[in-house]
Amino acid sequence: MERTHKPSAAPWVPETKNLNRLREAAKDCEGCSLYQNATQTVFGEGSRQSRVILVGEQPGDEEDQQGRPFVGPAGKLLNRALEAARVDRSELYVTNAVKHFKFSPRGKRRIHAKPSATEVSACRPWLQAEVAAVNPQLIVAMGSTAARSVMGREMRVMSDRGQFFSHEWAESVLVTVHPSALLRIPEHERREAEWKLFVRDLGMINEWLTKHPKS
Ligand code: URA
Ligand code: SF4
Repeated sequence: MERTHKPSAAPWVPETKNLNRLREAAKDCEGCSLYQNATQTVFGEGSRQSRVILVGEQPGDEEDQQGRPFVGPAGKLLNRALEAARVDRSELYVTNAVKHFKFSPRGKRRIHAKPSATEVSACRPWLQAEVAAVNPQLIVAMGSTAARSVMGREMRVMSDRGQFFSHEWAESVLVTVHPSALLRIPEHERREAEWKLFVRDLGMINEWLTKHPKS
């Protein structure tokens, strides 16, 4: 494709609300340069009529190899936090703002690199298509990349966390931090405090669902 326009997944996104067709098509996406070094597209997965979509940043090393979102260290922490908040992951649809792993090689290791604003916006049509297909009531954006992609503007996760925002894609958007941020806190006490806040935020999912029955 000629690169006269800014990078976008749009030409690869079929007009369908069928998640299987979207997932198949996403395998071939060349909407930005990230497909070149990654192993595979990591599409969202989970309950296809979920009332809630959980959005992360991008696949990590293990997700890239397995082709599934949140299966590595951040995913394990997310699972524990969901459990603590009594949210059943099998009832959610879980995905990422960016579908290919971005990294820089360091020896044999591949170190996570933050996707650029251009890459996030390039990949946004996939997220939008997933949201349209699942048609959730609530979108939960974890971390600044997810929040920016969902909201379409820069968000301040530390002050916006635990808050609900109105949105045309769903009844509401809840913003919280990314589980990887917790993994990076060295001090035990601060990590514990942040863990509690993360579990509190995730606990808002059930509260919100109870107050907003599916019509
Ligand atoms: N971090 C993310 O944001 N998503 C994943 O799938 C894994 C780690
Ligand atoms: Fe396409 Fe998104 Fe992968 Fe870029 S990151 S190639 S837009 S699927």
